[in-house]
Amino acid sequence: MPNTLATDAAARRSHEQTPPWVSTHPATAQANQLVILATGGGKRYLITLRPGQTFHTNLGHFQHDDLIGLPLGTTVHSQLGNAVLLLEPSLSDLINRIKRNTQIIYPKDAAYLVHKLSLRNGDQVIEAGTGSGGLTIALAWAVAPAGRVYTYEVRADNYQIARTNLERVGLLDNVSMFQQSVAEGFRQQGADAVFLDVRTPCRFLDPVRAALRPGGFFAALVPTTNQVIELLADLERKSFADIAVEELLLRQYKVVPERLRPDDSMVGHTGYLVSARPVVDPTDPGRWLSEERKRYAARKEFEAKVQAEEERRRAERPDDGRRYPRLPLP
Ligand SMILES: C[S@@+](CC[C@H](N)C(=O)[O-])C[C@H]1O[C@@H](n2cnc3c(N)ncnc32)[C@H](O)[C@@H]1O
Repeated sequence: MPNTLATDAAARRSHEQTPPWVSTHPATAQANQLVILATGGGKRYLITLRPGQTFHTNLGHFQHDDLIGLPLGTTVHSQLGNAVLLLEPSLSDLINRIKRNTQIIYPKDAAYLVHKLSLRNGDQVIEAGTGSGGLTIALAWAVAPAGRVYTYEVRADNYQIARTNLERVGLLDNVSMFQQSVAEGFRQQGADAVFLDVRTPCRFLDPVRAALRPGGFFAALVPTTNQVIELLADLERKSFADIAVEELLLRQYKVVPERLRPDDSMVGHTGYLVSARPVVDPTDPGRWLSEERKRYAARKEFEAKVQAEEERRRAERPDDGRRYPRLPLP
């Protein structure tokens, strides 16, 4: 019988002795690569480096050829001598700088959704509506290179803008786009996760169930509490479990180490994230509701019984429950 602890320790030692890994990210700016030019004033320009082209800003212009081949993270200067920082774009840079035709998901919500939907390389995830493709970028980023996003959008203009945005950030190869309403159902089955960002997600729980693998991950983003309540009622009716309602508040800080404090304003409300898992329990799916939900239901049932008993007793006493008979009126 091999001593597994000893084997593990040997594997760990050999791993620790390997030389530092080589990053898969290019160390220098490449032709046809997306880069960020960040100014001291907080502006961030997302551009694709194309040989022979010029990028114009109010700080002066930059020749793409001068930037190609420079190490990322380098300070570069316009012809007017103004400095900007050449950076590799982050996921937030990509999402925040796409062309918009709709409200797009905020990075805080997109990041948490990837976590709630438990996405990883290789997953198959369905999304509707595509909108401007903001969330599609985050989903594709999470499941690439082996996974795929299947995204549905009913409006032709939004579909086209999202397509252009995805192509620009280089993620279109990981996405299948459908210009189609969720009401017609999804074309996929056995998906690992489904996410809805449409006005009435509660209307589409049957297509969601049909598309998800058993125990897969479902989530929706809705802006009002009324929509959350509607969705909760339907999730319960359609035997979803592990239901959660969450809201994220993100506070930015003024980066002054000697006087560190939050920004004066913050984004107050973006949306409520509702997540759930479809369960298979033909006899009693209600057993998987939260303890609070079951306690509340039990209390309501008890109150209804008490009320019914009071009504029954009242009906048995024609004197309306008085101890003494009514005196005749003068
Ligand atoms: C708020 S936007 C989605 C924004 C997107 N999450 C993003 O980050 O860019 C909602 C989109 O859903 C689309 N939509 C509404 N109902 C739909 C339906 N039944 N089927 C497919 N798309 C729908 C709308 O046209 C709109 O583009």
